[in-house]
Amino acid sequence: MANQVPVRVPFQPNPRLTLFLAERQAGNGPAVAMYLRLGTSRHGRPVRSTVASRWISGTSAARCRKLSRGCHARRARTRRIGHESWGAIIHAATVVVSGMHSGPNPSPGLGIARSLKLADPEVRVVGLDYSAASSALHTSILDDVVLLPGWDEIHPGTWMEQVADLIADPNTFLIPTLDLEVRVLAEFFGVHERVLAPNKRVLDTVAKPPVTVADALGLPLPEFSTDTDWGAAERFIRHSPYGAWAKGQHYEAFRVRSVEEALAAGRFIKREWGGDWHLEAHVPGQECGIAFVARNGALLDAVLMTKVILTPEGKTWSGEVAELPDVLWEKLRHYAADVGWNGGGEIEMIRTWDGDLKLMEVNPRFPAWIHGASTCGANLPAALLAEQVRPERRRLTSGFTRVVEEIAVSPVLGISSYPWGPSDGINPATKHPSGMRTLGRRELLSEPTAVHGPASAIPSNRTHPQPSESTESLTGYETLLDTPSESWATPSRQILVTLLDERVAELRAQLDGLPHTVLAHSIKTCPHPELLSRAAGLGLVAEAITLDELDVAITHGFDPGCAILNGPAKWWPSRSSVRCGAFFADSVEELAQLVRSLDAGFRLTADIVGIRVAAPGVASRFGLSFERSADLAETAALLTELRVRLGARWGIHFHQAESVLGPDRWRHEATSALGFADPLADRLGDPPAVVDFGGGWHVDDLSVLRSSLDRVLATGGDCLRTRQLEIVLEPGKLLTQSAAAVVTRVLLAKGHGIGREVIVDAALGDIPEARYRAHPVAQFIHGEWRPVSRGAGRILGRSCMESDILAEELDVSSLAEGDFLAFGMCGAYDLSMSYPFGRGLAAEALA
Ligand SMILES: Cc1ncc(COP(=O)(O)O)c(C=O)c1O
Repeated sequence: MANQVPVRVPFQPNPRLTLFLAERQAGNGPAVAMYLRLGTSRHGRPVRSTVASRWISGTSAARCRKLSRGCHARRARTRRIGHESWGAIIHAATVVVSGMHSGPNPSPGLGIARSLKLADPEVRVVGLDYSAASSALHTSILDDVVLLPGWDEIHPGTWMEQVADLIADPNTFLIPTLDLEVRVLAEFFGVHERVLAPNKRVLDTVAKPPVTVADALGLPLPEFSTDTDWGAAERFIRHSPYGAWAKGQHYEAFRVRSVEEALAAGRFIKREWGGDWHLEAHVPGQECGIAFVARNGALLDAVLMTKVILTPEGKTWSGEVAELPDVLWEKLRHYAADVGWNGGGEIEMIRTWDGDLKLMEVNPRFPAWIHGASTCGANLPAALLAEQVRPERRRLTSGFTRVVEEIAVSPVLGISSYPWGPSDGINPATKHPSGMRTLGRRELLSEPTAVHGPASAIPSNRTHPQPSESTESLTGYETLLDTPSESWATPSRQILVTLLDERVAELRAQLDGLPHTVLAHSIKTCPHPELLSRAAGLGLVAEAITLDELDVAITHGFDPGCAILNGPAKWWPSRSSVRCGAFFADSVEELAQLVRSLDAGFRLTADIVGIRVAAPGVASRFGLSFERSADLAETAALLTELRVRLGARWGIHFHQAESVLGPDRWRHEATSALGFADPLADRLGDPPAVVDFGGGWHVDDLSVLRSSLDRVLATGGDCLRTRQLEIVLEPGKLLTQSAAAVVTRVLLAKGHGIGREVIVDAALGDIPEARYRAHPVAQFIHGEWRPVSRGAGRILGRSCMESDILAEELDVSSLAEGDFLAFGMCGAYDLSMSYPFGRGLAAEALA
């Protein structure tokens, strides 16, 4: 006889109750586990048995063992308040309902149980779940409780037998409500007349994004992208003015505001739930949804619910309930018939502020708020069981609300002892006590095929024009790289001035037709001597943020008389005299300080005295904000004084990173901020001579820059529409990012196959921006530089910092010690923010 093998005891609420026991039989027999059944029989007798089952694969029969006795009779004492008679089927039925957790983010099980009891208190409802921590298992409404092992333990074959066993009686039905459970059922159990759940075909159509359902219902989907490559994700988020969501194909959605957040969320979803993920634009509006039921393709009932009060997680707390409009009913009827929908379903939508409905998600199960609809007079779980079609005329109550209710825990189940969290006390009631999430990790399920192919097979459904360029189009840098030689001291930098030339020419072409435009080179973005000289040679003016920077610019050929001084430290280090073309003060205090300096003998020559205005909707440490009219008056007074003393005209400046805000928000913020030009012009007596739009454009967005400027000039302050207005742009990375590369060599390759990693002689100090954006990488192979393709490997820096990761998700499987690699797109901030620590031989090359 075997040694005892406890399979797992994840939860031991009560010493009388050991939920998971296993013993391995002698030889190669199966492990045997117990699951618990408590409650009452149809005739009110306490159920005393514990059923044992195999869940670790094995073929021989399970050995049963009585485990628990004396379970409580827990006959539901529900009053019958049904709106109509639901007939004999319900009266005689036993319904096994899964998903019994009822917390802040509840599963639908309890709501279904309540609805069935509302229709007929005599119906037997058995609560099924996979953890005793599912709170509604404790409710007295249930006649019986079945607790199966957690999803991380379940063996599909055994589980199927258990389910078959549970519904063996011809009057017993199963309503599954856990998303992945529904999928596993469809896959392993197929179609069964008493399993009231959608089939595999349905599940294929509801995988996110639900393109097929959107077509069938005539409801547009929000913009989405299944291309979740770094560059594509970054672009998508930047062009989603209201933010974006990272959504799992089957479950889970996270609001994301940056590409880093999106990719982290995507990795989490893939790991925890399985399947793909995609990005979806956030749609502002009012959340609403349809709950519906169909039996074998015949639509029985449906209601429309509009969320009125939401929990912090966005779950329904109270909602309005109404009949589904006829047009939608008809479309839903056709769709249900087409796919053979069986069971409950939920269609989640957003009603935009324009009144249009957008389809968000389709769930192959009842929504958790389903009992709300039942209390309003549309009992969909009962309709499902009784196969009863929506009555012709019914009067629905207008809405429902939830209440919090404390109940005594079942003495048999006991109370769940949640573990102490490492930092802040007891962990909150978990969202998925059944461990459903782990099911995704086990990859038991095949992926749907109907809508989800490889990312490239499903185009992004963007409706507004995208910038024609992509980062890839800017990464032909590798063809311009020199041939490396053994004598090279790496890491080293290569400046690609021709790319700067090209970008400047492209930008000038964009600006064609705009009167009086001046381009400035943002020195801090790229202070490399070669690029400074080239920029000056191309006719750009210098934009400096300190007086030392200005001096460097002058030595590389920039005209001080045209230079622009910006930022909060522009008068540092202190000088007795300064000559520049324009300066833009960052605060009222700076204007006042300048007046004091002039009083003290400081000599300043400038044509334009200006201010930087803050963006009203962006939290920023820069610029003047005019929330108080006194600030406007004080600013106007100081500007007036400085204009007189310097003999200068006035200007206004706005800078916020379009690369962060995206074009839509940038236009909005620029328009609002530059709107202050009008009241200032009124006080100063004439319109500004210069409007400076700063820099901050994303390298991909050259093609939308002109339309953004046109929009702001057309809708910003009236005084921006004067013919004499000079327009200044200070693009940094837009022009320089592609113009530098860092060449490095592989020191060591670790691991094999797709998970291979290489360590190189460059480090974060050489490419500090590697932490914030993916740089294209090229490998020198067979006498030429070739882009390294996407994969699962990483390029790690030479330092001992955990964060020294230079590139991820690249195929480095063929790289070997000594190979040359080049990081492209290093011409913005990588140069100016790099530091020389530990560079050895290459110190001069990278200086
Ligand atoms: C006033 C101003 N102009 C221009 C730039 C250049 O920005 P970028 O290199 O992001 O285009 C900056 C960057 O912070 C800035 O603050």
